[in-house]
Amino acid sequence: MLRPATSADLDDLAAFLRSADLTVAALAEPAVHLWLERDEAGAVRATTGFELGAAGEHALVRSVAVRPDLRGAGDGLRLARFALDRAADAGARQAWLFSRRSGGFWQKLGFAATTTSDLAAALPDAHQVRLFRSTGQLDHEVAWHRPLPVRDNVVV
Ligand SMILES: CC(C)(COP(=O)(O)OP(=O)(O)OC[C@H]1O[C@@H](n2cnc3c(N)ncnc32)[C@H](O)[C@@H]1OP(=O)(O)O)[C@@H](O)C(=O)NCCC(=O)NCCS
Repeated sequence: MLRPATSADLDDLAAFLRSADLTVAALAEPAVHLWLERDEAGAVRATTGFELGAAGEHALVRSVAVRPDLRGAGDGLRLARFALDRAADAGARQAWLFSRRSGGFWQKLGFAATTTSDLAAALPDAHQVRLFRSTGQLDHEVAWHRPLPVRDNVVV
């Protein structure tokens, strides 16, 4: 079952994300919301999350990953939908993400390809954007975008 990541989870979370070849920048920052699932033995089996932009309108989905031996069973879509729902609950109206290898997966969730400059303009202070700018990787990334449903009751 998904539960919010706490400071006690950070080391395991970072190791899991590294093994999935995802960034581990700023996992403990307040704007970054992360959840994880552990198996019966306590090992991380899946993670999901998003970073809310400063103005609250834009969310950067990040850290969506399923342990390799558990992939292909629908967990990825469940985790991604969870992050999108929580971002919409928090008041975000637009979802963005970087994904070089999983575009087909995100298209199933309504994402369309966009430019990294549009993503960076929407979320200039997001930690992944700052990281990719500082390393020169931004132009080599692939960006995706979709609108989010409007919520009546915003829960931050
Ligand atoms: C992307 C990822 C989360 C998908 O997890 P998963 O549990 O295998 O996903 P699901 O089983 O829910 O797959 C749902 C559908 O997406 C498709 N899909 C899964 N990964 C895909 C990919 N990389 N590219 C294209 N389609 C993909 C599946 O084939 C399936 O399609 P179907 O319903 O037509 O059969 C997983 O491969 C992963 O952890 N990758 C490494 C981390 C990563 O790249 N995360 C995304 C960036 S944040």
